[in-house]
Amino acid sequence: MCGIVGYIGNKEAYPILINGLKRLEYRGYDSAGVSLLDGKNDISVLKKKGKVGELDEYARQHDISGNIGIGHTRWATHGEPNDINAHPHTSMNGHFTIIHNGIIENYGRLKKRLEDRSYVFETETDTEVLANLMEYIYLKGQVSAEIAVRLALHKAIGAYGLAILCKDEPDKLIAARRGSPLVIGVGEDEYFLASDATPIVEHTKSVIYLNDNDVAILGRDELVLKTIKNDKLTPKVQQLDMEIGDIEKNGYDHFMLKEIFEQPRSIKDTFRGRISTDRENISLGGLYSVLPVLEKAKRIIILGCGTSWHAGLIGEYLIEDLARMPVEVEYASEFRYRNPIINNDDVVITISQSGETADSLAAIQQARQAGATVLGICNVVGSSIPRETDAGVYTHAGPEIGVASTKAFTAQVTVLAMMAILLGKKRGQLEDTVFKNLIQELSDIPDKIEKILQFNHEFKKLAELYKEANNFLYLGRGYSFPVALEGALKLKEISYIHAEGYPAAEMKHGPIALIDENMPVVVIALQDKSYDKIVSNIQEIKARKGKVIALVTEGDTTIKEMADHVLEIPPTLESLASLLTVIPLQLLSYHIAVLRGCSVDQPRNLAKSVTVE
Ligand code: G6P
Repeated sequence: MCGIVGYIGNKEAYPILINGLKRLEYRGYDSAGVSLLDGKNDISVLKKKGKVGELDEYARQHDISGNIGIGHTRWATHGEPNDINAHPHTSMNGHFTIIHNGIIENYGRLKKRLEDRSYVFETETDTEVLANLMEYIYLKGQVSAEIAVRLALHKAIGAYGLAILCKDEPDKLIAARRGSPLVIGVGEDEYFLASDATPIVEHTKSVIYLNDNDVAILGRDELVLKTIKNDKLTPKVQQLDMEIGDIEKNGYDHFMLKEIFEQPRSIKDTFRGRISTDRENISLGGLYSVLPVLEKAKRIIILGCGTSWHAGLIGEYLIEDLARMPVEVEYASEFRYRNPIINNDDVVITISQSGETADSLAAIQQARQAGATVLGICNVVGSSIPRETDAGVYTHAGPEIGVASTKAFTAQVTVLAMMAILLGKKRGQLEDTVFKNLIQELSDIPDKIEKILQFNHEFKKLAELYKEANNFLYLGRGYSFPVALEGALKLKEISYIHAEGYPAAEMKHGPIALIDENMPVVVIALQDKSYDKIVSNIQEIKARKGKVIALVTEGDTTIKEMADHVLEIPPTLESLASLLTVIPLQLLSYHIAVLRGCSVDQPRNLAKSVTVE
């Protein structure tokens, strides 16, 4: 949530900052701003409500020279999204200009104290409080900018990723992190700063991930890393495993569409090196050290938010079904605030695309303190959750830029399937032939997705028919129920049509009252053990004149006669079908959103990485 970029070097900073902000726009797009230092003790601030493009238009009418600069794209927390509340924020006497991702929880108290000392505030933001606090300490204590920053951060409670300029020290850029991610790119006589590596990869692959309580003081050719307590640290430079093509649209109209079409590859990348080439075995290196604990766990608790929570539900069905272990799935935000019972023989698995979701991160910290073994299934390498967990598995889906998650979801389910199959085997729950068949079927999933993607035009036609709907219902049973939830979420997120996902059997306990000729109902009706029941549900909908869009197993003729539309899914095992059934639902919501003229990759009010609680 909120994107930060920074540059210090010998090049013009503005183009680097503005391109970086475009890459980070998925993190928030309420407003954007940049500050540039031209080496003459002068910091310019250019900021605008709206998207980065609007800032760019505005900024180009002003002086945008300077070799040092910081930039921000905002997802509003404190203060409405307008020009004034946009970052950067400058302290009252103009010494400090800062940008911030996170929330300063005690900003009210700090603000009051500063007001008592004659500070006047222009904005409603917590960030301006930090800028003024730094300045107050700087002027009062006659200390360097770095010391003022560190002392101010001692007084701040909450989360921050910060980029700071001080006009009196025009050859420095200061960065600090607690809770909100920051990465430094190391170039030749230049450094880059960003909330994640996507703005950096086109400049350098050498990066340093900041840890909580780190402060970095960047000069053109010098980096000093320390803790806020002033302990010196040795920077650990790592190499990015990302290509520039991974973060570009490559001819697609939207990142979401590109990411939907990438799924055959992203799933293959997720099981590459984990499923043996003879398709007879699975090994998950990231779990190696904890496998004995995991196998014997009394209970597995899966945590996540949004789409990752939906993947967690499928994980529950998979692990209970194939490994016969008890699993609970919780929203991370509920888990952490409801005094949960956590035992030291529990294993907690946190699923997160970004690896930065604040509630998921806080929940695992709580689980760790209670003595549980904590694992992560994350997509962003080097993000916070993988660094806070005992072990884990990366999804290797590649950067996901569209705010609505697609390929990360199928990669998460792929990892959960591999875990469940592996645990089932280790715990003696799966016979060898069943074990091998599961692996083979999982290996065939990418080709089957490819087949579904070939019908993209059909999903578009369907979208034309239903683009004006005000409501949608999604129904499924068993493994298809979480897919129904995910299908409904995708539609709400990007097309703003109200949609609900329901277990099909629950329809009679409420949603059936909503059904009339205006209600499209998407029913996942595969030929599995719920088939007869779901066929009855379809009849119940038709009896009330609802419009049925059914996802059926290839060759199904029974449902074809009842439903208004059928979309065929290649046959696979019931436990793996969610990897296929979700694809038409992603495409349907994509096309509906495009036809309604919605901002597909950047839906209103949402952000990709939710780093506030
Ligand atoms: C936001 C995103 C969703 C995502 C959720 C959890 O709401 O828009 O796409 O599923 O956060 O994010 P995570 O990074 O933890 O998977």
